[in-house]
Amino acid sequence: MSKVTEINHPLVQHKLALIRDKNTGSKDFRELVEEVATLMAYEVTRDVQLETVEIETPICKTKCKMLAGKKIAIVPILRAGLGMVDGMIKLIPAAKVGHVGLYRDEVTLKPVEYFCKLPSDINERDIIVVDPMLATGGSAIGAIDVLKKRGAKYIRLMCLIASPEGVKAVQTAHPDVDIYLGSLDEKLNEHGYIVPGLGDAGDRLFGTK
Ligand code: PRP
Ligand code: URA
Repeated sequence: MSKVTEINHPLVQHKLALIRDKNTGSKDFRELVEEVATLMAYEVTRDVQLETVEIETPICKTKCKMLAGKKIAIVPILRAGLGMVDGMIKLIPAAKVGHVGLYRDEVTLKPVEYFCKLPSDINERDIIVVDPMLATGGSAIGAIDVLKKRGAKYIRLMCLIASPEGVKAVQTAHPDVDIYLGSLDEKLNEHGYIVPGLGDAGDRLFGTK
């Protein structure tokens, strides 16, 4: 079974409280989502491979650790996942970015795929799928299905807020995919929204409704 990590760092909790607030407008919402993504990226990349290199300081030669260069891809689930990309690229500037477009049908709550464009070497990359919300889990499961069909092997999922139902669904469908969360919330409501959640992430990011 995959590992679930709740990144409950004080800065993440503080910024999530601001993000959840219904009085936070799109400009601040966007900035906060980006900031939380940067903070979470720090934790999600905790176990990336290092190699020993020799460098010379102004004082002497020494051995240090640097990233071993295993290639990373960030894959936002459109639309709302886009809000997390820049925050991650700040820490991992060499990462490539793939896009999977899915929207959740409002009646069936099932994901509908409409776009997919991935780096050609996706099968070799460590992939971090990003989406602010993991609700029923349908979108994340669908995006991971798409990635695996195209050869992806090493996949993690990073979400700001999740429901217990969504986490369980992803673990059942993809037991090899570790999950990183800013907060595990209480439940889903009868419309498939996370409680307490933050409302509709895409609409709040892009000012649509
Ligand atoms: C939201 C969110 C997730 C999905 C989560 O996207 O960003 O992708 O819902 O719900 P699920 O776990 O029940 O699938 P939405 O479908 O509203 O599309 P958008 O990002 O284009 O607004
Ligand atoms: N999608 C969202 O944007 N918010 C939710 O609470 C559930 C699905």
